[in-house]
Amino acid sequence: MRRTEPLRALVRETRLEPGALILPLFLCPGEGVRKEIASMPGVFNLSVDEAVKEAEAAAALGIGGLLLFGLPETKDEEATGAWADDGIVQQGLRALKSSSAAKSLVVMADVCLCEYTSHGHCGIVKRKGGEYEVENDSSLGLLAKTAVSLAKAGADVVAPSDMMDGRVAAIRDALDAEELEQTPILSYAAKFASAFYGPFREAADSAPQFGDRRSYQMDGANVREAMREIDLDLAEGADMILMKPAMPYLDVIRAAREQFTAPIGAYQVSGEYSMLQAAFAKGWLEPQRAMLESLVSIRRAGAGFIVTYFAVEAAKVLG
Ligand code: PBG
Repeated sequence: MRRTEPLRALVRETRLEPGALILPLFLCPGEGVRKEIASMPGVFNLSVDEAVKEAEAAAALGIGGLLLFGLPETKDEEATGAWADDGIVQQGLRALKSSSAAKSLVVMADVCLCEYTSHGHCGIVKRKGGEYEVENDSSLGLLAKTAVSLAKAGADVVAPSDMMDGRVAAIRDALDAEELEQTPILSYAAKFASAFYGPFREAADSAPQFGDRRSYQMDGANVREAMREIDLDLAEGADMILMKPAMPYLDVIRAAREQFTAPIGAYQVSGEYSMLQAAFAKGWLEPQRAMLESLVSIRRAGAGFIVTYFAVEAAKVLG
């Protein structure tokens, strides 16, 4: 059954199609800006006009959707750029939603504060007895306000990635109160504190200025806790869940797929992309085959859709 490609295709158990791929975009101020991220070859900070072009190309390739992140003009303690009506992602959403690309793409907006806070943490930071602490409950209001602002600007889906407890319920309540009850929530329910987010923090300029994210993101050793996080988020009203990172956590994706019926996506994160790109640059791995193998492994583990910086390249190959 392995002798020819038609035979192999006939018995193939896992398939990849462009519609299952979500392309992340990093929006920045300006016009005509297309600035490559040093640690992520082929990934750019894009001004809104350039992002629209990128989205149109993605739509033409049959890609399923976009996930938007923003680099604001200025950062502050309240993450104003995250929820301001004229925030960079809000501007991008309005432009994208009025472009022809929007017809076939699901436009998702990441909900987090770390790109917009001066300290780079995903929530509000308070000083307690000489120590800094990321405060869970006081961050929920700003996260909900951010989600409402993004949904009003046109986001088809809001995707909270902050990992504060209770944020899905807070976001659901706030959306419903603003007559945005049709906006689904894709919760990054099981997001592990990972070294593989390194290049993203360069792309989004969101590295924490002090400490790390281990007080709110999950410990990579825990599968049962990941299931509990998913359970809680679904109970709070999450419509879909996102697992992250992907390749170092394929077993967790598999466990989630077996336990829950909700749609599950996985995020092939920046470090997974960069390490493959580095090996490609060295001539150590065959780019096309390694890219597709990495994506198939994530699908095989049980993810229905994949957020990946390879979305455009993979869609070109998959046709
Ligand atoms: C924001 C956020 C991060 C990523 C997605 N949303 C960074 C982080 O948690 O530090 C990482 C994505 C990637 O590495 O590609 N909280």
